[in-house]
Amino acid sequence: MDDAAFSDFYARPTGDGKFSVGGVALDRPFRIVRLGHFGFNLNNIEEGIRFYTDLLGFVVTDIRDASDRLSKEQLAQVKGPPIGVFTRYGSDHHAMVLFNRSMREVADGKARWPDGITTNQITWQCGSLGQISDAIKWFAAKQVPTVRSGRDMPGSNWHTYIADPDGNVSELYYGIEQIGWDGYSKPWEMHDRAFRQAPPMPQISEYQEVTDALARGVDFTKGFRDTKRPPATHDVDGILLARPFKIVRMGPVRLFMKDVAAAKRFYTEMLGFTPTETVVYKGHTCEFLRANTEHHAVALYPIALREELGLSSHTTNFSIGLQVANYRQLRNAREFLIEKGCKVRELPHELFPGIDYHFVVHDPDGHAVQFYHYMEQIGWDGKPRPASARPRVEPGVWPETVPGQPDSYMGEPFLGPWE
Ligand SMILES: [Fe+2]
Repeated sequence: MDDAAFSDFYARPTGDGKFSVGGVALDRPFRIVRLGHFGFNLNNIEEGIRFYTDLLGFVVTDIRDASDRLSKEQLAQVKGPPIGVFTRYGSDHHAMVLFNRSMREVADGKARWPDGITTNQITWQCGSLGQISDAIKWFAAKQVPTVRSGRDMPGSNWHTYIADPDGNVSELYYGIEQIGWDGYSKPWEMHDRAFRQAPPMPQISEYQEVTDALARGVDFTKGFRDTKRPPATHDVDGILLARPFKIVRMGPVRLFMKDVAAAKRFYTEMLGFTPTETVVYKGHTCEFLRANTEHHAVALYPIALREELGLSSHTTNFSIGLQVANYRQLRNAREFLIEKGCKVRELPHELFPGIDYHFVVHDPDGHAVQFYHYMEQIGWDGKPRPASARPRVEPGVWPETVPGQPDSYMGEPFLGPWE
């Protein structure tokens, strides 16, 4: 590709194969900085919604019912309600997205969701709409197929979707809708600025969209507001919540892959993740990649490990990580979930470099959800902490207090109040 191919990019080619992204020379015209949201396609959608909302505390921001988009014949094939549910833990419109798997198979075709791919989307935040626009063109120039591009509603994020070698879909996005103090999502009347393909550039700001909606008399209280919250009875570091913990960050995403080396090439070369560490566990090579300063945002494990760990054979998703606000909350979350009848267990700690205490629970479909409180942070030299200098964890032992680390409470902070 010569530089002329990039003449309409926001990132300017620098002549040495790099791109000036906002004046900083990078290997590709975009930079992923954070896991924004994540989704599962669920067989047990109703029980799944209860698990992620009532039990774990995600707040529903919108429910999308596909009844009006599917034919009568199609609807008859869908098991359970034909819905997708958008939920949040912070101000991003959605963090955990839950779709009825059978509805997605009917709507998108079975080929779109191969056996084992129950991960609906792994969604990465980039720094500008220009970067998303450039990413779409860059993938096209490299003849990397994208699943689709545009701007979805609800959520309002501008995006492009690209699949990894096994069919897990990563989404790159900019500008997801923020839910404010009143807890209302945008009313559906404001969904008129959805795009089904890459949008022409530039676009008006969201503030202007809101100004335009006000001018045409849109009633903002017509947006969705979750009113079915369980009673808040736990004093969680000063705030009454319905459970003794608060999720403050999502990720890492752990995936079982058919070919870990090929997957590593995809996530590093196509999406720009940085390798942090390789772990060989009982002969299995596992790769840990980061997007920002966290030790890892994506971890890749060989599929042969799934059975050895006793994880559900219905999915190639190893786990989705949920970080709680502190270690005490992690202990309390463990006890709370055991009390609620969840099967809680620790998996071998060698598989999670950069995390100290953790436990795993399973959603009603069998997906593993990993709870933890601390993630090692990587600094300017890009080196993880030597294993000998890491916090020591004795499996199965949960001390009351753990030693502070140089990077305790560091990394991506949670903004705003706890619900
Ligand atoms: Fe998304």
